[in-house]
Amino acid sequence: MAKKDKNNDNNPLKQIIGHAKEYGFVYQSSEIYDGLQAVYDYGPYGNELKKNLKELWWQSMTRLNQNIVGIDASIFMHPLTWKASGHVDSFNDPMIDNKDSKKRYRADVLLEEKAAEYEKAGDNAKASALLQKMGQLLDAEDLEAVRQLIIDEGIVCPVSETANWTEVRQFNLMFSTQVGSVADDASEIYLRPETAQGIFVNFLNVQKTARMKIPFGIAQIGKAFRNEIVARQFIFRMREFEQMEMQFFVRPGDEMKWYEHWKESRMKWHKALGTPEEKLRFHDHDKLAHYANAAADIEFDFPFGFKEVEGIHSRTDFDLSQHQTLSKKKQQYFDTEINKNYVPYVVETSIGADRLFLMVLSNAYTEEMVGEGDKAKMRTFLKFNPVIAPVKAAILPLTKKDGLPEKGMEIFESLKYDFNLIYEEQQSIGKRYTRQDLIGTPFCIAVDHQTLEDNTVTVRHRDTTEQERIAIEDLHGFLSKACSLRNVFDKL
Ligand code: GAP
Repeated sequence: MAKKDKNNDNNPLKQIIGHAKEYGFVYQSSEIYDGLQAVYDYGPYGNELKKNLKELWWQSMTRLNQNIVGIDASIFMHPLTWKASGHVDSFNDPMIDNKDSKKRYRADVLLEEKAAEYEKAGDNAKASALLQKMGQLLDAEDLEAVRQLIIDEGIVCPVSETANWTEVRQFNLMFSTQVGSVADDASEIYLRPETAQGIFVNFLNVQKTARMKIPFGIAQIGKAFRNEIVARQFIFRMREFEQMEMQFFVRPGDEMKWYEHWKESRMKWHKALGTPEEKLRFHDHDKLAHYANAAADIEFDFPFGFKEVEGIHSRTDFDLSQHQTLSKKKQQYFDTEINKNYVPYVVETSIGADRLFLMVLSNAYTEEMVGEGDKAKMRTFLKFNPVIAPVKAAILPLTKKDGLPEKGMEIFESLKYDFNLIYEEQQSIGKRYTRQDLIGTPFCIAVDHQTLEDNTVTVRHRDTTEQERIAIEDLHGFLSKACSLRNVFDKL
């Protein structure tokens, strides 16, 4: 179960994790039982933020592209699916245990961390030599030599501080369970480790029933499960997570054109959402997975450095051909333009909803000194794009009397069908503004005595704290404009 990370004080995500818990974004799963490692629950604001991110992705894929349709496939799939995809045989991580602490590590991660130490000390040559050697040994599946390399590098377990290592073993990341009520009949099935295969096995169903013509795409959002050995960095690497994947089916030979198209298109999407250009970069893969002929990651500069948020992969015809072989059902498309039957090639875009959430939260977290001299203090706020902000506006009557609460509720009632709002009348207006800043509400609508006279309210903008007077009848239009998905779409 979850163990307290003794290095938590040095964790660069410490502030984000603390803020996410304190203000209702993300909690450790089963916290009252000391938690379950690498499994998390989303609180009231986290849940709204995640839903908004998924909605934005979904609409960007399906509404903005007439040739992309969506599906919702099951988590359980026929076991042969994972034989075909290669997950049964090669979805492995090399693991090593420390005999004294009984802690388990990924052998490659231990060596990568050692290389990072060399790099930090300015010895780049030693770092790359170590990574190269590790790559060669893993490719050759020489696990005994990987263990020896760990020992030769003087790597010790951070908990026991000894080098009393077991042998290195390959560890399959898929979770399995049994289907069938009678033990004898039960057969082992897997919790899907990626959503993509649910799309591949439905390729012909969708193509025929939605009358799709190549090139076309199928999008899906859903849970995926991986028994990650290195489960750290909060929601960056989880055992249960959500993926947003799109498989784009193309004519063989056209895949590189579409690969470049989707690389650019997805990078543009991240920028349109408001992620600063300098915090994003591509990482083109030199070493390709068995199914790919090109692959790149979009990386974000997290508090712990640049790391993958999304993958764009040219998967050739690997998956459909494998399913054709194992299912003995043709997975072909007749292309009327060139009068030819073929197994389509596929370009995939794959992003984790939780990892995107962490990126957006890290990027939004802002601390700013306000005031001067003795009055200077830190203001913390979450600078979410209003399009994805969990709460769009808070309605705040200045006082609890003189009919202000009634007027505030009237405004709340008129807007609640179209926007997620908070109505609050407890405590001073300043404290209420602060609370909204901490959950990233872009607009606070204050109802005061002038409202009763001229039907206008004060709208406070979260990022600048500037205030403006707006007529109540214009509020709906104001919020619609500020929170519309179009604000992102127009930049694509
Ligand atoms: N279908 C291709 C595929 O699954 P991947 O690179 O293994 O490729 C794609 O995963 C994305 O899914 C990653 O870029 C990441 O955003 C997310 N992801 C993968 N493993 C994850 C984990 N353990 N926890 C959270 N997100 C994860």
